Amino acid sequence: MSNTRWAWVEVDLDAIRHNIAHIRSVVAPAAVWAVVKADGYGHGAVAVARAAMDAGAEGLCVALVREGLELRQAGIDAPILLLTEQPPETAGHIVQHRLTPTVYTRGFVDAIVAENATGLPVHLKIDTGMQRVGVHPHAAAAMAESIAERAPAVRLAGVYTHLAVADAPTDEFTAKQLKRFDDALSHIEESQGRVPLVHIANSAGALAHPDSRRSMVRIGIAMYGISPGHGVDDLCADLRPALELRARVSYVKMARAGSRISYGRIHRFERDTNVATIPIGYADGVVRRLSTTGGEVLIGGRRCPIVGRVTMDQLMVDCGDAEVSAGDDVVMIGAQDGPDGVQRIRAEDWADRLDTIGYEIVCGLSARLARVPRRSIDG
Ligand SMILES: Cc1ncc(COP(=O)(O)O)c(C=O)c1O
Repeated sequence: MSNTRWAWVEVDLDAIRHNIAHIRSVVAPAAVWAVVKADGYGHGAVAVARAAMDAGAEGLCVALVREGLELRQAGIDAPILLLTEQPPETAGHIVQHRLTPTVYTRGFVDAIVAENATGLPVHLKIDTGMQRVGVHPHAAAAMAESIAERAPAVRLAGVYTHLAVADAPTDEFTAKQLKRFDDALSHIEESQGRVPLVHIANSAGALAHPDSRRSMVRIGIAMYGISPGHGVDDLCADLRPALELRARVSYVKMARAGSRISYGRIHRFERDTNVATIPIGYADGVVRRLSTTGGEVLIGGRRCPIVGRVTMDQLMVDCGDAEVSAGDDVVMIGAQDGPDGVQRIRAEDWADRLDTIGYEIVCGLSARLARVPRRSIDG
């Protein structure tokens, strides 16, 4: 069943291709691997992965075995890096489907070897300060050695780390992480020889820290055309947002001055006004707190504020004197032409209103919304 409701996500795969091409030109000669975990940050993992590979990405990264299998089942043959160790009982799937595991404990390497891996590339993750996962830099060379001892079942194809504050370009902690990484890497290479793939940078690293571009970069949010954070907004000017959240007006009525609307009756109308109902709510990822933090939508290219509480499946907006009808186009995230020119609402605008980051907004759009391909006008 294709889209059967008046609310959906449109994904511009030309924008994905454009963003990958742009990032490749920035980071060359480093290779770009596209991060498509969490269903491609809510954009649809398979379609994004194909577009990214079309545009010259050389590999893909996912968080979960299931996400890797979805790509394999769609016929995608590219290298797929699992970004953390996985439950040992998934090792059979990892080996069978040629996913590239991240490793940092001997136990997990053993679980992979026990599944009769042959020449399976693995990437060793070093924790240089994020303190999430990874081997301590001082233990990295020993861990690399124990991987070498398990040859030919596995081979050390990559060594990497992850930056904690790459989106704050003046924070000195990034330089500390790079130093810890380089020290650990040189110990590893002293005993193991050159490691084929060395990587550090996420989007913010790739854009803001040339030192973190090694043989490859792992690009998520920038590929989707969303800034990693305000500290690097200026480096994102050439990226194009790939996602639009769109809907249609389901119902229109006149609300009288002095009346109140929705659960809790928190909003009181000061004057008679046209109110449009939109069939999308917090079960779709339209965060309920947008009711009170200035959330708005575009209808006819005009900004219409959300009035009253966002409910599970529906929300209401104040259209003022504008003539609005059921079936009219609504843009929740994206662009729409109107009397004052093109208006735009970005995932980052929602994030600012909700004291979060664009990542959380797009990842939060639920599976209940169909993902529909969109061709960009200038793509
Ligand atoms: C280990 C790792 N690398 C790369 C990325 C991609 O980060 P970004 O979306 O900021 O490019 C992530 C995302 O969270 C990650 O966890």
